[in-house]
Amino acid sequence: MKALTWHGRRDVRVDTVPDPAVKDPTDVIIKVTTSGLCGSDLHLYEVLGPFLDVGDILGHEPMGIVQEVGPEVTAVRVGARVVIPFNVSCGTCHTCGQGLHSQCETTQVREYGSGASLFGYTKLYGQVPGGQAELLRVPFGNTLPIEVPHGPEDDRFVFLSDVLPTAWQAVEYAAVPEGGSLVVLGLGPIGDMSCRIALHRGAAQVIGVDLVGERLTRTRRRGVHVLDLREHGKDLADVIRGLTDGRGPDAVIDAVGMEAHGSPGAKLAAQATNLLPSALAAKMMEHVGIDRLHALYLAIDIVRRGGTISLSGVYGGQTDPLPLLTMFDKQIQLRMGQANVHRWVDDILPLLTDDDPLGVDTFATHHVPLDDAPSAYEMFQKKQDGAVKVLFKP
Ligand SMILES: NC(=O)c1ccc[n+]([C@@H]2O[C@H](COP(=O)([O-])OP(=O)(O)OC[C@H]3O[C@@H](n4cnc5c(N)ncnc54)[C@H](O)[C@@H]3O)[C@@H](O)[C@H]2O)c1
Ligand SMILES: [Zn+2]
Ligand SMILES: [Zn+2]
Repeated sequence: MKALTWHGRRDVRVDTVPDPAVKDPTDVIIKVTTSGLCGSDLHLYEVLGPFLDVGDILGHEPMGIVQEVGPEVTAVRVGARVVIPFNVSCGTCHTCGQGLHSQCETTQVREYGSGASLFGYTKLYGQVPGGQAELLRVPFGNTLPIEVPHGPEDDRFVFLSDVLPTAWQAVEYAAVPEGGSLVVLGLGPIGDMSCRIALHRGAAQVIGVDLVGERLTRTRRRGVHVLDLREHGKDLADVIRGLTDGRGPDAVIDAVGMEAHGSPGAKLAAQATNLLPSALAAKMMEHVGIDRLHALYLAIDIVRRGGTISLSGVYGGQTDPLPLLTMFDKQIQLRMGQANVHRWVDDILPLLTDDDPLGVDTFATHHVPLDDAPSAYEMFQKKQDGAVKVLFKP
């Protein structure tokens, strides 16, 4: 089959690789019909190289049709239409039972002290072959796939794999009070969808911040008050306080992560690790880190006293100590983590209708054949051609 594989920093290729096969009796094999490209993939593309091997298959936002089932699979049949969550979670362990699928005790990667394995996401997360491919082996066939109806285009459902539950959890963790205010930092797919969900769930005031024109425009059209980071440097926090009774918003969602613009120095560290032998570089990234905490510092600065920060952007490394004194003094509530996809499916599915309150049918900006994935990665990273959400069609 064809699959998008990692070869080095900013070097991904479409290779022919062996087809996956059923290994465990509860495995299913799906024929992938659509597979998303995520901001998290950009971390693999740019800085997480030390945790990847040449040939690793990327992608963690797939959906498709069940092509083969293991002998113990009873929950889905060949021909079923399924979305696959990005967490590889068993659905039956203690933590899955608590709705913490991103901490699944069956698939935790203890060697690296990580939570649940993820599709297509480095040794830190189990080095599980990903879904930017023609076929995907999915374990836990009785509990992991989300079956969806045939009929609507894939765009209706594919975001259930990551964008929708991640944004839903971000909003849930933000705990905006009735009539309250929310600032969303970063208006990529996750931040954009977080704004939509917050408005849908009744936040009175949603302010979005980014520095890419079309991302700001797209979010403004959904009724969000947007601020352009390029126009507001140092005064951004004051402008936001001015819009929120001088106190700051009740909650801030950080949907930026470690590619944050505005954190010099981090870039150098990241480049340095790319010059080291990979075992050394991996250690350096874990301990010295590649932190780019610009957006998180901003969140700590702007949130009102006693407010909540909901962190969905992914950070790595530990170079920059957090401003713990300020965090403590402001009595901030900080909530974070990979999305627990299955936890939110029942909340979200009723919104994926012809009325399309969240605008999922028109959310993707690009539908691209898998063969063109390498140039799509570059386009998405450089934010060219209005790319906000790219979907691959294997
Ligand atoms: N928690 C989870 O389960 C989960 C799931 C998916 C993605 N993520 C993470 O969420 C983050 C966003 O993902 P995405 O797909 O939307 O990616 P993205 O890279 O497209 O979005 C990031 C956005 O932040 C903007 N930005 C950069 N620096 C900024 C700054 N200093 N202030 C404000 N905005 C800034 C960028 O212009 C971009 O639009 C990534 O870190 C990704 O890894 C987490
Ligand atoms: Zn993703
Ligand atoms: Zn589990």
